[in-house]
Amino acid sequence: MKANLVLLPGDGIGPEIVSEAQRVLEKVAELFGHEFSFSSQLIGGISIDKTGDPLPQETIDACKASDAILLGAVGGPKWDDPSAKTRPEAGLLKIRKELGLFANLRPIRLFDQLVDSSPLKRDIIEGTDILFFRELTGGIYFGESGRSGSGQDETAFQSMAYSVREVERIVRMAAKAAQQRDNRLTSVDKANVLEPSRLWRQTAARVMAEEFPDVQYDVVLVDAMAMHLINRPRDFDVVVTGNLFGDILTDEASMLPGSLGMLPSASLGSDGPGLYEPIHGSAPDIAGQELANPLATILAAAMLLRHSLSLLDEATAIENAVAAVLADGLRTKDIARGGKHIGTKEMGAAVVERLQK
Ligand code: NAD
Ligand code: IPM
Ligand code: MN
Repeated sequence: MKANLVLLPGDGIGPEIVSEAQRVLEKVAELFGHEFSFSSQLIGGISIDKTGDPLPQETIDACKASDAILLGAVGGPKWDDPSAKTRPEAGLLKIRKELGLFANLRPIRLFDQLVDSSPLKRDIIEGTDILFFRELTGGIYFGESGRSGSGQDETAFQSMAYSVREVERIVRMAAKAAQQRDNRLTSVDKANVLEPSRLWRQTAARVMAEEFPDVQYDVVLVDAMAMHLINRPRDFDVVVTGNLFGDILTDEASMLPGSLGMLPSASLGSDGPGLYEPIHGSAPDIAGQELANPLATILAAAMLLRHSLSLLDEATAIENAVAAVLADGLRTKDIARGGKHIGTKEMGAAVVERLQK
């Protein structure tokens, strides 16, 4: 198969982890007889520095013309000035919106080899397998915002809105995924306080009753969910939630597999290319030090092969190679828990070495 892939390395550790994932994809192409072409484009802080814009039109055009996109991360202290005209993160939000990527799939998969390096106890986390569907192009992230007044009265606001259409499409996608898994779906909201959450809950309940009566369905408030995730993570199969709640709950859930550096994600729309990225950020505290764990991005590349190119064996080959690396005791510092560790490039090379057809 021929595929045209866009790489968006971005800032901080972004370029380091994307180049390891690219090496893995190149090895997959060689082993399985595919032709992947790669084009690197600007996004984020580096793009602001070079063009003044965190998402130039050229990047949007290249992404729209591609088969799939692999992103590292954006942002960093250099671009954090609150009064700056634009920010790196605006580029990421815009590409999600431009491509209509309303569904962000964040699987929480535990590798057996890492169960004892999680900060949580083995008997609580063992057997956990959750698939989060985070709504990605609506909610408070895209609500009206602004400031008024001055001095002590200066006020800032950002509103949260969800439409029936937006809730229906993400709930449907999550429910269909549940049917392919353990047939259970949990919707997470804050319907005791927020009006958009009440619309979300009503809409989700109707879609589930009318279209998915076979799927076991329940609702949980987001604050309680934050606790249940740590206390009884095995009880959840597919979880669907809004943009902000999904952002926060999945960083929390990354402690189940043991590190933010292990979690990949796929952002999908109803058609067009998908965008794949680790759920973590640009980790400015460790950038350029060979400390970044590239496995989340490598696992995102596996999701890219599975969801955008339908290359299921190739995706599984990457996941097996990652498991083999971990079984051999190789760890980046974030998953080493004080033990011996290897660097970013060594980890990428170790995965490449273990890839098998
Ligand atoms: P972060 O996810 O970058 O880092 C949080 C902590 O996790 C840090 O201690 C970091 O060193 C560690 N970490 C993250 N990824 C790691 C990896 N692959 N290997 C080892 N350790 C890893 O979050 P932050 O520090 O709050 O944010 C830094 C910047 O990243 C901000 O500008 C933020 O806006 C941005 N950000 C971008 C994305 C994205 O591009 N998708 C996601 C989250 C945050
Ligand atoms: C993520 C990040 C982004 C988000 C930021 C950088 C815009 O935290 O991808 O999880 O909040 O969606
Ligand atoms: Mn996040």
